[in-house]
Amino acid sequence: MKKIILTLFTLSFILSCKMSADFDDEKEVFIEDLISKMTLAEKAGQMNQYNGFWDATGPMPEGDYQKKRYNELKNGQVGSMLNVIGVDEIYALQKIAVEETRLGIPLIFGHDVIHGYKTIFPIPLAESSSWDLDLMEKSARVAATEASADGLNWTFAPMVDISRDARWGRVMEGAGEDPYLGSLVAKARVKGFQGDDLNDINSIVACAKHFAGYGFSEAGRDYNTTDFNHYTLHNTIMPPFKAAVDAGVRTFMNSFNTLDEIPATGHKHIQRDILKGDWNFDGFIVSDWGSIDQMIPHGFARDGEHAAELAVLAGSDMDMESSLYVSKLVGLVESGKVKEELLNDAVRRILRVKYELGLFEDPFKYCNKQRSDSELASDNNMKVALDAAKKSIVLLKNNNQLLPLQKEGEKIAIIGPLAGDKNSPLGNWRSQAVYNSASSVVEGMNKYKGNRIVYEKGVDLYYGKTNFHNRVKINYDDKSDFGKAKLAAATSDIVVMVLGEEGNQSGEGRSRTNIGLPGLQLELLKEINKINNNIILVVMSGRPLDLSWEDENIPAIVQAWHLGSKSGDAIAQVLYGDYNPSGKLTMSFPRNVGQVPVYYNFKNTGRPSTSIEQVTNSGYADVENSPLYSFGHGLSYTNFSYTNFSIDTDKLGIDSKINASIEIENIGNYKGKEVVQLYIRDIVGSIARPMKELKGFKSVELEPGESKTVNFQIDSSMLEFYTYGNKWESEVGKFHVFVGGNSNITEFKEFYLTD
Ligand code: BGC
Repeated sequence: MKKIILTLFTLSFILSCKMSADFDDEKEVFIEDLISKMTLAEKAGQMNQYNGFWDATGPMPEGDYQKKRYNELKNGQVGSMLNVIGVDEIYALQKIAVEETRLGIPLIFGHDVIHGYKTIFPIPLAESSSWDLDLMEKSARVAATEASADGLNWTFAPMVDISRDARWGRVMEGAGEDPYLGSLVAKARVKGFQGDDLNDINSIVACAKHFAGYGFSEAGRDYNTTDFNHYTLHNTIMPPFKAAVDAGVRTFMNSFNTLDEIPATGHKHIQRDILKGDWNFDGFIVSDWGSIDQMIPHGFARDGEHAAELAVLAGSDMDMESSLYVSKLVGLVESGKVKEELLNDAVRRILRVKYELGLFEDPFKYCNKQRSDSELASDNNMKVALDAAKKSIVLLKNNNQLLPLQKEGEKIAIIGPLAGDKNSPLGNWRSQAVYNSASSVVEGMNKYKGNRIVYEKGVDLYYGKTNFHNRVKINYDDKSDFGKAKLAAATSDIVVMVLGEEGNQSGEGRSRTNIGLPGLQLELLKEINKINNNIILVVMSGRPLDLSWEDENIPAIVQAWHLGSKSGDAIAQVLYGDYNPSGKLTMSFPRNVGQVPVYYNFKNTGRPSTSIEQVTNSGYADVENSPLYSFGHGLSYTNFSYTNFSIDTDKLGIDSKINASIEIENIGNYKGKEVVQLYIRDIVGSIARPMKELKGFKSVELEPGESKTVNFQIDSSMLEFYTYGNKWESEVGKFHVFVGGNSNITEFKEFYLTD
């Protein structure tokens, strides 16, 4: 019997290998055949991507600009479009591409589906705080299902930029400061978007962005120059991109910044040598919006023709919105400046992805109105959003167990401009979310009937309706509602204050130099605090804020980010203890903005500081070096104790393993979940090494009084880094291993890696 099963297994394995080999062969034959039929102009056309340029289902486009693009589309000079929304529009444009162009090559439709499409999940930085990879894969899957049901087949996500700078507004789109966690999250999100098979109706192509170094924009100013060394590039910035390639991501987007003084879009070494060379990536790279053209103001390209030449030579395959490939590439090939083979290579990559999506078989496969009606914002999808929102919340502080709230007999004042806000929790990059469609904290709290609740906004945070393109207009003058809020606080047992950033205060182009609570909110908080100190502060933000005053003066602080469609319900369930918070920060919260960049995996320096009093050491005169809340920090309503930390041997060979184990016990009164983290320090290296690096984590759930032993296997591959020899390798020597509930753990065990 066993033999038969084995034979069947072997047979099906051989068959599936053969089938996929056949698929690959057929695909490549099909593509080469198609390329052989294409004119130079059609090749340049495949490499051209336009933003949605008119209401395709209405009357013919008016005006020169639209007409020009429409004619180009009909002539096969557009390969992709972005931001075309809805089945009808996509169908109409696809019809032109397949029925009116000479070769009928279908378009691929992209859009920024960053944290949900219609159902909005927590912003990615928040969701990474769950450390729950299955959850992140699932929310990406739901987003892909909704987007594909509405006609799309490509998302510009995940953003896998590591960043250590909370001033940079785009930290909301990433997974924080750590390359190891960032790599796992990148993989989970790619798998979620692309599924097991790109040809599935609910799979969409993922895009790892922004390649590379964009998260290191100087002073956190968006689009700014970067300045980091070769080792930072390889050890910190590249790992999530490599993980995305290993997970099968089919597209990359390059970035706006310079890297080694060269605009990333024109950077041949990272695109051709590393990504397409060393990593064997055979999908395609799209430029960022206008980034080919922007090589002119960068002072790298003389003019549009030069920019197109530099970009294509460097390996940028598709031009997003510079219109330079479509207008210049033919001439560049004809004049001999660019070899036609480079265009063939780019087109081959683009056609490959279209083929894998099944677009040549059925270009209209994503255009099914019924599917769109039933999938978008379905109850099931909203359930996933609620689950994700609860798991993304981080309890920063909880003195005297002020939380969870009692369910009866209390008078609670909810105060703050964001408490009733149904729009901000949707965050930036909210795709097709309906304005004002999130549940607010007030709504969530009102579902619990046992307490008396009053709501006073206290102050306006901003004026008017906000959107992606405009600056949020912050209120700095009008305090007229302070009085009502103070009265509510004076007559209540507990005050829940909901403060923070409006949803569009973080995201692209949203850099801030002051990362405290914006507007008059801190002033309001101080006033309320004088009247009633039983305050639970709920912070909504798209980045770590400076919460130093709050930490010193407010007994309980809950970091609630921008949590998406189900924000208010999730927050209420956490405040009432129906969900015991389990999130852990993936980005350090600074003591003040002057500390930024501040991160857990720093280097020791030659003069490490241990106190503010030391003068000629690497520290500040006014604050400690440590962040206010570190990477990995996050409390629970229960407490966990860690004991019996041990390793089974202190010698590690290249092929052996060390078992590190620790006992964790729930010593509090609530069932709770804890993310147990493993860090390693490489004491001496061929380059200076970080003080700690995350190398593993496990989530454990414990009933009160229950304990478990958590084991981690350490092997030499976990000690590898990009060394002075420019290779990924481990170096023999002494290491320290730490296991615990955050990156501040000090107890360690020592071991040696031997030859
Ligand atoms: C952003 C990208 C985004 C693109 C298309 C650019 O401004 O940097 O991340 O995918 O626009 O919306």
